[in-house]
Amino acid sequence: MITRLDHVAIAVPDLDRAIARLAEDLGLDFAGREDVEAARTTTAFFPVPGTRIELIHPLRGEGPVARFLDRRGGGLHHLCFASDDLDADVARLRERGWRFLTDGPVPGAHGSRVIFAHPSSMDGVLVELAEHPARGDEG
Ligand code: CO
Repeated sequence: MITRLDHVAIAVPDLDRAIARLAEDLGLDFAGREDVEAARTTTAFFPVPGTRIELIHPLRGEGPVARFLDRRGGGLHHLCFASDDLDADVARLRERGWRFLTDGPVPGAHGSRVIFAHPSSMDGVLVELAEHPARGDEG
């Protein structure tokens, strides 16, 4: 079951500058950075009531986020919904015609399992589904 909007992700060309903007200009809490090898990204999370903002930047200047930045610069990248049973939700959505970018979930930030749906499944918006290991509100 989808339980909530887990985070909104913004691709940024300059991660330090983007972190300073959210932390200092907007005064949001900064929950730290994490490299996610499976996605070839560096991430930074900012909790806001009910959800989080995720900044994403290419790890080693390569990978899908690098291609996104090359094509269109920084911008809204994806929405992530939390799932309490990712395998069941993916199977249910496949039955309803959703397409996914990988055959199954891959490792995400903070020990989560994640999978991305093809943007065509959501009117052009990239959607991530994430299942978190413990409390269900981290990662
Ligand atoms: Co994400």
